[in-house]
Amino acid sequence: MEHLLTLHDLSSEEIFQILRLAKKLKRELKEGVLHPTLQGKTLGMIFTKASTRTRVSFEVGMSQLGGQALFLSSNDIQLGRGESIYDTAKVLSRYLDGIMIRTYKQSDVEELAKYGSIPIINGLTDLVHPCQILADLQTIEEKKGKLEGIKLAYIGDGNNIAHSLLYGCAKVGMDVAIASPKAYSCNEEIVENAKADARKTGAKVHMTEDSTEAIANADVVYTDTWCSMGQDAEKEERVKAFQGYQVNKELFAKAKDDAIFLHCLPAYRGFEVTSDVIDEPNSVVFDEAENRLHAQKAVMQILMSK
Ligand code: CP
Ligand code: NVA
Repeated sequence: MEHLLTLHDLSSEEIFQILRLAKKLKRELKEGVLHPTLQGKTLGMIFTKASTRTRVSFEVGMSQLGGQALFLSSNDIQLGRGESIYDTAKVLSRYLDGIMIRTYKQSDVEELAKYGSIPIINGLTDLVHPCQILADLQTIEEKKGKLEGIKLAYIGDGNNIAHSLLYGCAKVGMDVAIASPKAYSCNEEIVENAKADARKTGAKVHMTEDSTEAIANADVVYTDTWCSMGQDAEKEERVKAFQGYQVNKELFAKAKDDAIFLHCLPAYRGFEVTSDVIDEPNSVVFDEAENRLHAQKAVMQILMSK
């Protein structure tokens, strides 16, 4: 493992290795055991989109590992004024030990990895959000005691979160059902890739337009915003298109009795989820947000301590 660009690029064993290390780092942190494995190392964090969790968890994580993180807003670096990814990758590789990037195009992240000589971590693109799903898997394992054979239902937009859930679940042997309106369904190539991975792990991938069908027998119910970063101009038409895809009490009741609710956050109560679901005891969204810290520390330790 040289980079974290998508979960599809990792083997099942690499994902389990990250999850095992994340669990250990979480336990050690709570016990007050220091683990300064990245002392003297610096992570650059390039953001061309907003962030609360990703920025704070990477920065705090790096500090807990004994290193430091540099926040590089695209408004402040030359990349935002048109300097090429090629030159940026070459230059930053001379200073930094790793880069986390949140941006629009997946190809920009892939190019950074291609031309740079340091590990690149994808902190979200329009296509995928692998760090989020590692934290989600950690959370599911904590709450359900296992991943294999667990069924996750995702209701909503076929976006970056849905794509990474497809990749992540398929790799760890979890069944995944996704319900989206036809016009907002997942990228077909990603669905095919996930199905190919699922065949190897015995997981099932089910794509539908029917929320009730997707949620039946689900152990985990997941949703995300109907309007991702960069789509604000489409908000009105999206809100109309997603009627019937809200995770409310009535829909949530159709999952298993002990189903848990996940959301990557930020959440928009009253749109993709109602308060009586996200604020109820079966909702584990804040444990999920916390696990961003532990899962990403594991990723940084594996990639950057070499
Ligand atoms: N879930 C997530 O990535 O949150 P931020 O946009 O706040 O980083
Ligand atoms: N789908 C959302 C996820 C935010 C963490 C977005 O891309 O804006």
